[in-house]
Amino acid sequence: MSESLKVAVAGLGNVGVGVVKILEEHKELIAERAGREIVIKAVCARNHNVDRGVDLSGYIWVADATTLADMDDVDIVVELIGGEDGIAFEAAKNTLNKKKSLVTANKAMVAHHGAELADLAQDNGVALRYEAAVAGGIPIIKAIGEGLAANKLSQVYGIMNGTTNYMLTHMESRGLSYDEILEEVEELGYLEADPALDLDGIDAAHKLAILSSVAFGTKTDFDNVYIEGIRKIQGVDIEYAKELGYRIKLLGMTKFEDGNLSQRVHPVMIDRNLPIAGVMDGFNALVVDGDYIDRTFYQGRGAGEGPTASAVVADIIDIARGHSGPAFFKPAAKLVSANPVSINARKGAYYVRLHVKDEAGVIADITAGLKSASVSVETMLQKGSEQDGTVYVVITTHETTETAIKDALNRINELSSVIENPLSIRIENL
Ligand SMILES: NC(=O)c1ccc[n+]([C@@H]2O[C@H](COP(=O)([O-])OP(=O)(O)OC[C@H]3O[C@@H](n4cnc5c(N)ncnc54)[C@H](OP(=O)(O)O)[C@@H]3O)[C@@H](O)[C@H]2O)c1
Repeated sequence: MSESLKVAVAGLGNVGVGVVKILEEHKELIAERAGREIVIKAVCARNHNVDRGVDLSGYIWVADATTLADMDDVDIVVELIGGEDGIAFEAAKNTLNKKKSLVTANKAMVAHHGAELADLAQDNGVALRYEAAVAGGIPIIKAIGEGLAANKLSQVYGIMNGTTNYMLTHMESRGLSYDEILEEVEELGYLEADPALDLDGIDAAHKLAILSSVAFGTKTDFDNVYIEGIRKIQGVDIEYAKELGYRIKLLGMTKFEDGNLSQRVHPVMIDRNLPIAGVMDGFNALVVDGDYIDRTFYQGRGAGEGPTASAVVADIIDIARGHSGPAFFKPAAKLVSANPVSINARKGAYYVRLHVKDEAGVIADITAGLKSASVSVETMLQKGSEQDGTVYVVITTHETTETAIKDALNRINELSSVIENPLSIRIENL
């Protein structure tokens, strides 16, 4: 067996501790598979005197993560601190500049600085690996970059945030309101330290930006991902979706055609019989379409100590085996800057939920608002009057445009009978 591969782990939180556990518990199995031993040399976190439930006494403790790569007997730095900039980014750049390979689970950093880091890795002749940054336990980066490498891919979409999928699942299965399920995920510790990352779709958008680059060879372009989260979804929408044969999911969707890249994260209504509509709780799922494989579907746990650490260790094993190809599966200099497609270019059907006073003429006014924006109605549902004299009116449209639906909703919102901002959800034909 050749010389051991020496690893420094920066960050000993959920994922960092998981990585230490796997590398110790599966030491022999991993050495066999990697063809060499993988040894932890040094570790780093903020607080030294914390019991993390693993024995760290055999490793050198380093206080400054940016210096790990300076150690002579460290071959790889594993960055598990988090954050798009700051110490994580500094440590990452220093690692690559010191000609050491970098493994990270940091989706925010790769989404924002992917192209720059890929350049640095290539210039220094080392590897940059980030499998754990997207959909934890699903090896989607390798599936796309290696397994599907013979295909021209047309689109990738999926459920990329387990917390919001859990919330939507339990709003439907247990009839919980948004506020009730939010309280539950807070108590369960499922939310990111900054809940906006989950609830506003930002976490999913980080992953989507990375997937776009892997699938299409474009430069990571997080700034042009259109992002909407799930905060406006109410129990009534979940119920109406069911009645209409749909299920609401928060999807990330990326498509590339003729140099144009459409990247969107927002709630969608999809046919409830689709495989992806049946992916519940904290699970993630991804669909990848390619010209020779048609469609592939992947499902698994998207986060958590075990699945995420498993992906990190797989990347370390990959490097131990000597695989050091380009980060986005083509030379960094060949990554292209795509033309971003605006959300306003979307064409399709929409679900619209209106909360209105239950009074004569309101339906006629709504219909007139839709008609003047050239939006035609496919179905209209109205459930009995609420005790407070208000009612929900739900409409699905025929195919229309994003600009037309916005125009219609602006007009309708001006009606005196409308008591809450109208909500629209895009209906996707997947
Ligand atoms: N958790 C998941 O399920 C998951 C899934 C996919 C990707 N990720 C990504 O994996 C990374 C780590 O996530 P996590 O959940 O393990 O985070 P975490 O539990 O918050 O752990 C972060 C670790 O970084 C350390 N740290 C913070 N600032 C530091 C500094 N200035 N210098 C050195 N160490 C510092 C912390 O030290 P102390 O412990 O001493 O405070 C802690 O050990 C993030 O990029 C995250 O987005 C996580």
